[in-house]
Amino acid sequence: MLVRLVCVAGARPNFMKIAPLIEALRQDAAFAVRLVHTGQHYDENMSSRFFGELGLPEPDYHLAVGSGSHARQTAAVMERLEPVLEQEQPDGVVVAGDVNSTLAAALTAKKMGFTVIHLEAGLRSFDRTMPEEINRIVTDAISDVLLVSEESGVRNLLREGVPEERIELVGNIMIDSLRKHLDQALQSDIRVRLGIGDGAFGLVTLHRPANVDDEDRRSEILAALAEISSEVPLYWPVHPRSRARLEAQRTPLPESIHLCEPLGYLDFLCLEATCKVVLTDSGGIQEETTALGVPCLTLRENTERPVTVGCGTNRLAGTSKESILSAWEQTKANPKRGELPPLWDGHAAERCVEALRRFFAKPQGKARDV
Ligand code: UD1
Ligand code: UDP
Repeated sequence: MLVRLVCVAGARPNFMKIAPLIEALRQDAAFAVRLVHTGQHYDENMSSRFFGELGLPEPDYHLAVGSGSHARQTAAVMERLEPVLEQEQPDGVVVAGDVNSTLAAALTAKKMGFTVIHLEAGLRSFDRTMPEEINRIVTDAISDVLLVSEESGVRNLLREGVPEERIELVGNIMIDSLRKHLDQALQSDIRVRLGIGDGAFGLVTLHRPANVDDEDRRSEILAALAEISSEVPLYWPVHPRSRARLEAQRTPLPESIHLCEPLGYLDFLCLEATCKVVLTDSGGIQEETTALGVPCLTLRENTERPVTVGCGTNRLAGTSKESILSAWEQTKANPKRGELPPLWDGHAAERCVEALRRFFAKPQGKARDV
């Protein structure tokens, strides 16, 4: 029996998660895959660049939804995905991560009666002011197959009443991408291009609305970064959400904070693997630094990826100048070496395919109720 899957991706962090799964599914004659790009991210350096670098096939459908409010963006994905699914009549729809495209695709597919498969299910920050937390909770509530990256995700889903047989702990598929591309990334000349030289440096990324759109919080974070940059120069590929905010900033940044455009995956991975510390509010980067054994200060009050703190190299640094500087001092005094969490071994995609094979082999694999 041929299982026909539609994979949906739309924003930068989706691409690293979906690429290994598509590659593994394409090597298996039991599956046929179609790729839909929602177009939530659309700049060359937020989208198409990753297709070449990660070996993703050209999307079969491009929905070109672009930017907008949460409602508009979610609605646009739903409206434009519906006719695609109507035409494809897939056996399952794969959604990844926690962005608006994830939620919109899951809702559309489920209401049309299709099986929904959530890659990176079960993560919870327990902070419902985060748009991603709402996307995660709703997507998981209507998914039929929940592919989980770390053990906390299994516990969260069981506590929410998800039947155990729907939950599959497959490990972290983003780390499949990292392992596959790390050697190539280390050949990148990005350090030369940015003029970094051979000395120690820190890497910064920030894009959470709560951090970059809120002026008070942004000022606290920038003040902490300014102090840290007097000890190690900081390099900061600026997410498009943050660009305008930084340009409007009245106090200029010190010269020891170097801004650049968002980087491609290989260039970014090269910096991430070779820096002294990463300061970030990204979800995926907390995981990648743990896999690389590089200290990470997460500029947030919580994380939906607790294994990166308990087992890995991550520290929750908060968002005040004082808390960030205190975490920085701790990191210098005691840089966490960390361990690799279970199943972050580069083989998560194979386990996803096995889980899907088992699901679709069962009679209830075709069942369409949740
Ligand atoms: C989105 C996700 C977030 C994820 C992040 C990864 C949601 C709710 N948020 O946040 O979970 O961590 O992606 O990067 O889905 N823009 C451009 N060019 C682009 C894309 C965006 O200029 O290619 C600008 C637009 O002004 C847009 C803003 O960035 O309004 C925000 O984009 P959006 O996709 O709405 O949210 P992100 O902040 O990127
Ligand atoms: N990344 C990248 N270039 C950059 C910044 C990040 O390639 O300039 C990669 C990073 O290595 C990771 C992913 O983007 O694989 C994380 O995406 P992002 O931080 O945008 O989203 P989040 O994980 O927070 O949802």
